[in-house]
Amino acid sequence: MFTAQASAAIDKPGLYGELAEQLAGLLSGETDFIANAANMAALLYHGLPDLNWAGFYLMKGGELVLGPFQGKPACVRIALGKGVCGTAAARRASVLVEDVEAFPGHIACDAASRSELVVPLLRGDTVIGVLDLDAPLVGRFDAQDREGCEGLVRIFLAHTP
Ligand code: SME
Repeated sequence: MFTAQASAAIDKPGLYGELAEQLAGLLSGETDFIANAANMAALLYHGLPDLNWAGFYLMKGGELVLGPFQGKPACVRIALGKGVCGTAAARRASVLVEDVEAFPGHIACDAASRSELVVPLLRGDTVIGVLDLDAPLVGRFDAQDREGCEGLVRIFLAHTP
């Protein structure tokens, strides 16, 4: 069975390349949305260093509803345009927050969270959900993380119709 490992020695593009291969392997032959989202959340939570939360919010009835995740229990519903997740969904674009205390409207689910990266899941122009990563360190995420996670989301969507 698969094991996810984070290595301090590995560069970010290298790490995301490894995670992309592992994700494609994990999702190969399986199209169930919840199962694939759950495995992706687990892969990222255990494979990326310095995270305290990794998971999905899914668009249901015009709002984001908590989906598969790893980490502490989280708020269940987020309105479009609210918080980092709702902002990414409304913009249909990734949102990288270096310091959550400097992001007006940030929704604090876990008091440990200090920075956040949210990548929308887009089918054409339609947002079907978001991938949300939280870190206990200010400035944990950069453009390489954003690009890496956008690539992983593309793999997820390609395997999960
Ligand atoms: N901080 C998010 C809410 C979700 S939790 O981080 C898991 C936000 O502001 O949208």
